[in-house]
Amino acid sequence: MASASFLHITKQFPAGDVAVHDLCLEVADGEFMVIVGPSGCGKSTVLRLLAGVENMTEGVIKIDGRVVNDVPPRNRDVSMVFQNYALYPHMSVFDNMSFGLRMQGFARPVIEERVRRAARALGLGDLLERKPPELSGGEQQRVALGRAIVKDPRVYLFDEPLSSIDARLRAELRVDLKRIQKGLGTTSIYVTHDQVEAMTMGDRIAVMKDGVLQQVAPPGEIYDHPANVFVAGFIGAPAMNLIPVTVSGRLVKGSAIEVEVPRACGVDRAVLGIRPEALSESPSPRVPSLEMKIDLAERVGRDQFIYGTAGDDGIVARIDAGIQVSRGDRIRLGFDVRDIHLFDAHSGQALSP
Ligand SMILES: Nc1ncnc2c1ncn2[C@@H]1O[C@H](COP(=O)(O)OP(=O)(O)OP(=O)(O)O)[C@@H](O)[C@H]1O
Ligand SMILES: [Mg+2]
Repeated sequence: MASASFLHITKQFPAGDVAVHDLCLEVADGEFMVIVGPSGCGKSTVLRLLAGVENMTEGVIKIDGRVVNDVPPRNRDVSMVFQNYALYPHMSVFDNMSFGLRMQGFARPVIEERVRRAARALGLGDLLERKPPELSGGEQQRVALGRAIVKDPRVYLFDEPLSSIDARLRAELRVDLKRIQKGLGTTSIYVTHDQVEAMTMGDRIAVMKDGVLQQVAPPGEIYDHPANVFVAGFIGAPAMNLIPVTVSGRLVKGSAIEVEVPRACGVDRAVLGIRPEALSESPSPRVPSLEMKIDLAERVGRDQFIYGTAGDDGIVARIDAGIQVSRGDRIRLGFDVRDIHLFDAHSGQALSP
């Protein structure tokens, strides 16, 4: 077990692309850190730099307090699981999982013990004699996870390891993987572009965009206090409503919304954010509200998401599934002023209303 530190890491590829820009990130011993962000934002590059399979342009990486910049990958004692895992098709599950340990010269009883324990945790106990072509895609991916787990490294690196698995199994494996990691207590960095995975698995979440770290915080804090407009729009589904507004003193005005905020925030133009789940369909006359014209209603279990417009702005709201609505209806949606977020219109940074 170990901590991992990225200190002012920049990675520029010869082609000129800056994949990671001045990244500072501390992953604590035993922590499950999730790196999330859109495709191409530099997530895999961060993992590859820690694994040592890519060299950085600038900065220092430490594992357990020790600088590893010049330590070759095989001596870094990290274990990486990729999205596109490759198993040896002619070898049994047991042999696939134990391959690395055998190469490292571990004694047979140690190998047996570690493989059986990991196989049990991953629900592969009865499949150890099978070969990969006799397994489902999800089972194969679990073997790939098992192969990383048995190595008992100081840090696990997971690069979208569940993305090729169907939705239901993915939800199960998410829980399994988190439980295994907590059981072993191994420091882990998990990359995904799926914000649901990030929110459910991470002790903390690091949100990246265009090679730049936007915010690092526990899931609840990211959700409640996004640091900027990008994080606000990226985390949460459906996404937070983001409405351009003008501000004068404590009065905030949009095309179909008017709110008085507790404190003036010193800008004249801002973006007001309100989550779909913070809008309610039966507002008391005392709370601020907006009138929405409905284009589409989508029912998901007990919830119903309605999509439409208020003034010039597209709006999404979550309302009770029991309410009958149809296209063209108008509905008044209220909200608590404490649920709104304000962001600077120019910098995108959060303001505290
Ligand atoms: N070998 C390379 N040479 C040049 N540019 C590269 C190289 N590898 C990655 N990049 C660029 O660096 C940026 C970050 O790539 P990276 O693979 O880290 O993104 P990612 O966040 O993992 O994306 P995805 O979610 O699609 O896997 C991208 O713009 C990519 O095109
Ligand atoms: Mg990637």
